[in-house]
Amino acid sequence: MLGKGDKMRLIITDDFQEMSLRAARIVAGQVELKPDSNLGLPTGSTPLGLYDYLIKFHKEENLSFAKTSSFNLDEYYGLGQNHPKSFYQFMKENFFQEVDLPQENINFLQGRAEDVEKECYRFENKIASSGGIDLMILGIGRNGHIGFNEPGEELKSHTHLADLAPETIKANQKFFDSEEEVPRQALTMGMGTILKSRQILLMASGKSKSWAVKELMKKRVTTEFPASFLRVHPRVILLIDQEAADRI
Ligand code: PGA
Repeated sequence: MLGKGDKMRLIITDDFQEMSLRAARIVAGQVELKPDSNLGLPTGSTPLGLYDYLIKFHKEENLSFAKTSSFNLDEYYGLGQNHPKSFYQFMKENFFQEVDLPQENINFLQGRAEDVEKECYRFENKIASSGGIDLMILGIGRNGHIGFNEPGEELKSHTHLADLAPETIKANQKFFDSEEEVPRQALTMGMGTILKSRQILLMASGKSKSWAVKELMKKRVTTEFPASFLRVHPRVILLIDQEAADRI
């Protein structure tokens, strides 16, 4: 459990909607306080409600992303930006096309880059030369992965090409017609890239995440549970709903 001296702040909400609204308020506050913020953004089911609220704030309350920059956490290897299942398309449909974030401020890993190492280096350098990520928003895998930093004997610090764990392929099948279609590799920010962010907001919703949330509460840092590395970061907010908090 989180206790005195713990740096992670835990917020438990009633449900997915409330979690999404609270997350949107945090992101909106960041952008209002620092309009030229660099945001780290995830894909997946978890941030969908957050993006909906941010779009609502943009349309109804004039929240503007005109000076903001975004850096997406990862992209499937082998999928071009126009591929319907690419994370770029996901972001375009669920967020980018609905807000005023300028196209030139959107930073994405290129899944079809010819030279993968060069592409990872380019992305890593772009984050650094832009001043670093102010607020990194994260989901968490059922197995404790962050981005595509999967459990294993080692973790990579920088942006790299990663193999998806079998359980991740299964979990991501929901976005594809079949399991076979899910790409087996992805370009992802490394754990060091993520930990360099000034502030981290991790969201988790639903019973399927309750084991991962329970593990995250344990006071140990291990590559076998990548999200545990968040424990060494001084400013992490865990924003989870009641179902995800079921086992803590
Ligand atoms: P999800 O994925 O939001 O679709 O559950 C989260 C993750 O795998 O990091």
